Amino acid sequence: MRENIVQYMYLAAGLSFIFAIKWMTAPHTARRGVLAGEIGMVLAVLGTFVRPEVTQFTWIIVGLAGGTAIGLPLAAFVPMTAMPQRTALSHAFGAAAATLVGVAEYIIRQPNLDRFTMVVLGIEVLLGGLTVTGSLMAFGKLQEIIQGRPVVYRGQNVVNLSILAIALAGIAWLAIDPSNAVVFAVVVAAAVVFGVLLIIPIGGADMPTVIALLNSYAGLSAVAMGFALDNKVLEIAGALDGSSGFILAVVMSKAMNRNFRNILFGAFGQVTMSAKAEGEDDRPVRSGTSVDGAAILDGARLVVIIPGYGMAVAQAQHKVRELSDALERNGTQVRFAIHPVAGRMPGHMNVLLAEADVPYDHMVELDEANELLSRADVAIVIGANDVTNPAAKNEPGSPVYGMPILDVDNAGSVLVIKRSMGPGFAGIGNELYHLPNTTMLFGDAKQVVGSLVSDLGESR
Ligand code: TAP
Repeated sequence: MRENIVQYMYLAAGLSFIFAIKWMTAPHTARRGVLAGEIGMVLAVLGTFVRPEVTQFTWIIVGLAGGTAIGLPLAAFVPMTAMPQRTALSHAFGAAAATLVGVAEYIIRQPNLDRFTMVVLGIEVLLGGLTVTGSLMAFGKLQEIIQGRPVVYRGQNVVNLSILAIALAGIAWLAIDPSNAVVFAVVVAAAVVFGVLLIIPIGGADMPTVIALLNSYAGLSAVAMGFALDNKVLEIAGALDGSSGFILAVVMSKAMNRNFRNILFGAFGQVTMSAKAEGEDDRPVRSGTSVDGAAILDGARLVVIIPGYGMAVAQAQHKVRELSDALERNGTQVRFAIHPVAGRMPGHMNVLLAEADVPYDHMVELDEANELLSRADVAIVIGANDVTNPAAKNEPGSPVYGMPILDVDNAGSVLVIKRSMGPGFAGIGNELYHLPNTTMLFGDAKQVVGSLVSDLGESR
């Protein structure tokens, strides 16, 4: 009876997770999606509480209290701009849980460990272990605790694949002799080392895609844990996590024009850094004031706004909305061009603009944006840099080469709002700033956009 209740609760939790993912694919249903995910998680935890074999609650409560003590401050205090590294940290925690459960099950089930469970536990600790250290490395790179540049050496893939082969051979050995604890320890150690080696050749700019992939590995590790524990909700949630993380990684690598095979083998982001860093470039740029900017905007029929990471840093989204309203009052059509990797996390710009009540139908994606830019009178780049860099099309040695970009240079006039000639995430200069139709409006995005709004009002 009790077991049936557990299974129904797990089924309901699994359905909630499926609907959560479905609803989170569109902005207007996303809140419902988050709620469904939360309900699913509560059902999964409660379902585990009523399992007949759970007779002792002390350690569960200690674990829940510890997790809450870490999770609440992470949710409340980590800024939106640091969301990718926070996500990486969450993956590390999830994967650590899967790995520790795998180790515990290995010890508890001795000497009666059957071959199937042994192989599943081996896969669980392999995927879990590499996700723990891989995610911690990704966190370190994004938080700039460790160097973001790729660390590349000769024979790197051979070394990496050899370590992976050791782990796989260990699992094969354990399938024959599950009692060999030394081999099990070797598998865990190889997984942990492999996670570090997998990430070091990958540049900081490619970290978001890697995080999505690590998400997928953590999910697959949870599936293995589900098989080992015969726990349906872990199997469902892990499979959803594994497949959605994988699809996201593929979509992101396409958006950045990266070779997906290279991500899988840790050769991602290897580029020759021949592009000039800003500062090495002493060519002049044309800078103007907000009054100049307002004059350029006055009378424009179509304006495309390109938000980027700087808009998030300046928290300028509400001022940007005011600017868009002021332009529309002047009879100008306004659209927001959203690059898939603008900002520091997937959907970063959509979230900020939605917070400022920018209508969803004003936000356009890359292809449509580029079509609009080719006939826009003015493009306003607000705190975006890499996603507008023509080097992605013209400079094969550039770290951003091959990434599809917003063709801002095709607009009639370009206004760029940023504080200095400083580079963006990829650490390189931007040819766009030196083009004859570009005017730089230097300053903090919130301040400059605010001045533009007032000056536009006065120019009427
Ligand atoms: P970036 O290329 O990082 O450029 C942001 C620009 O904003 C900087 O050049 C900076 O110039 C300016 N800025 C910073 N603070 C500002 C402020 N208060 N006011 C005005 N401007 C400010 O941003 P992007 O174009 O959005 O490109 C995103 C980059 O991040 C890509 O390289 C992408 O691969 C990478 N990335 C993306 C993600 C995801 S999933 N979206 C995750 C991690 C990394 P100043 O210092 O001169 O102001």
